[in-house]
Amino acid sequence: MDTTSAITQRYACRAFLDSPVSTEIITHILDTARWAPSGVNTQPWRVAVVSGQRKQAITDALIQVRDSGQEPNPDYQYYPANWQEPYRNRRKVCGLTMYRALDIRREDTEKQKQAWYNNYRFFGAPIGLFVFIDAELAQGSWLDLGMFIQNIMLAAVDTGLATCPQASLADYPDVIRQQLDWPATDKLACGLSLGYADTSQPVNQYRLEREPVDSYTKWYE
Ligand SMILES: Cc1cc2nc3c(=O)[nH]c(=O)nc-3n(C[C@H](O)[C@H](O)[C@H](O)COP(=O)(O)O)c2cc1C
Repeated sequence: MDTTSAITQRYACRAFLDSPVSTEIITHILDTARWAPSGVNTQPWRVAVVSGQRKQAITDALIQVRDSGQEPNPDYQYYPANWQEPYRNRRKVCGLTMYRALDIRREDTEKQKQAWYNNYRFFGAPIGLFVFIDAELAQGSWLDLGMFIQNIMLAAVDTGLATCPQASLADYPDVIRQQLDWPATDKLACGLSLGYADTSQPVNQYRLEREPVDSYTKWYE
């Protein structure tokens, strides 16, 4: 598959088949992703791969802590506290489109809650990935991490797999670190679900638009 096809075919997959993914394929994806550039070749990424009972234990723990009413306490702020245009509207379209595909109405709060909890269930994917970064590193290394994560997603597409990058899986980083016996000196950037897409599900059948090049580019000569 050529790079452009991989980039344009990738999408956030929110329904997976339970077909297993071999350790060889996961290793191949991570082996490809490590070729991401990073400032002075820092290679700041650290990854946990979860499946089976460990993944289920994480799902249970995340749902439990959420149900307890505890506020998320992520290691960093991913979204703005106050949404301004044009981001506010893009966020709205993103949510409304997904709810429409899931046939969830505005007033159906229980269904909305379950849709949110599906994040913690890795949307049914057999594999979960957690991407960490050493807390000692500076903001610049987070750029490197983003490139690494994109490489994971593109390599997955190239092998016929789908992914969903998920900030939601980093809502309660202490829970994840505890489950994985992971050092507190690492910050949790995000999680990803990885598996084979269930393309029969409407939630996987729409694509969100992007603004055209001219809307975000100025040319200087
Ligand atoms: C770092 C990151 C975190 C995200 N977190 C979530 C998430 O927690 N749950 C979710 O359903 N989608 C999540 N997404 C997916 C975005 O909503 C999705 O990429 C965006 O709407 C564009 O859609 P597309 O990826 O299908 O083109 C995340 C994406 C990124 C890059």
